[in-house]
Amino acid sequence: MADDVRRGLTRFPKTLPPYLFYDEAGSSLYERITELPEYYLTRAEREIFVTQAAEIVDRVGRSAGGPLSVIELGAGSASKTEILLQAVLARHGRGLYLPIDVSATALAGAEARLRRSLPRLSIRSLPMTHAESLRVIADVAPPRLVLFIGSSVGNLPDGEASALLRRTREALPGETWLLLGTDLRTSPEMHRAAYDDAAGVTAAFNKNILTHINRELGGHFDIGRFRHLARWNEAASCVEMHLESVGAQEIAVDHLALRARFEAGETIHTESSVKYDLPRVARLLEAGDFRLEATYHDRARRFGLHLARARAAGR
Ligand code: AVI
Repeated sequence: MADDVRRGLTRFPKTLPPYLFYDEAGSSLYERITELPEYYLTRAEREIFVTQAAEIVDRVGRSAGGPLSVIELGAGSASKTEILLQAVLARHGRGLYLPIDVSATALAGAEARLRRSLPRLSIRSLPMTHAESLRVIADVAPPRLVLFIGSSVGNLPDGEASALLRRTREALPGETWLLLGTDLRTSPEMHRAAYDDAAGVTAAFNKNILTHINRELGGHFDIGRFRHLARWNEAASCVEMHLESVGAQEIAVDHLALRARFEAGETIHTESSVKYDLPRVARLLEAGDFRLEATYHDRARRFGLHLARARAAGR
């Protein structure tokens, strides 16, 4: 964290990595975001799980046989995944679920709930980073279905996203499927509004990154002197979140022995959220060594769950 903050605040334009949103306060603000009227993503993805989970599991089951092991990257509370796991048990009678998340608390909560609601499911929680999980999941026998949902992929530059998929695929030779959740490019006004809600929850979420730095690194940011901005970037097809300095100011970060200078109106870029079209999804999957097999939509076609299959040599 110290290295990332130093690098981000000493470059131009200034940046901070989005993982810094998620301290305890940031995680609960994010939970509130998922329920906002403007933030349609979570509801749209849930709708797809409710209407299509059985079809998705059948499609994988028809060519992969069973029972299926479900590996989830960044599982969090696993509430949408529960719908898919129910479908796995309905088709195969049993299944193994391996949720991966850096938050041990989120995993413990999800595991306790799933043990009660789905007693026939075997669960192996992996409280670690994706990189650390690779050697563990390498022992999971095929067939496997990897979930990377919630549009989290959209917070990564395309090169990092495809590298993550490729590393996952390399760790899992043999019959491996991927279910990737992405927000879809529709209307820029609607996309922007999803990141600039009327109640100001997203603004609080964005500014919390500064509170997090104040606490962990002895920062002296006055969050009243930064303004939340959500901008549509047409060329990159993404919503960018920034924090704009209200007036010129110099901020000390004690543990880094750093004084960061801001011009009036200068911004810190905190997050990009890509809104995909299908060719971009297909390119991303190809670069990650997967082939797109099917896309499932919500009724309003705002969100996509893309089912892909790991390419075998010559396939
Ligand atoms: C976690 N991630 C997919 C969210 C998104 O939509 O990019 C994070 C978020 N940022 C602002 N609102 C939600």
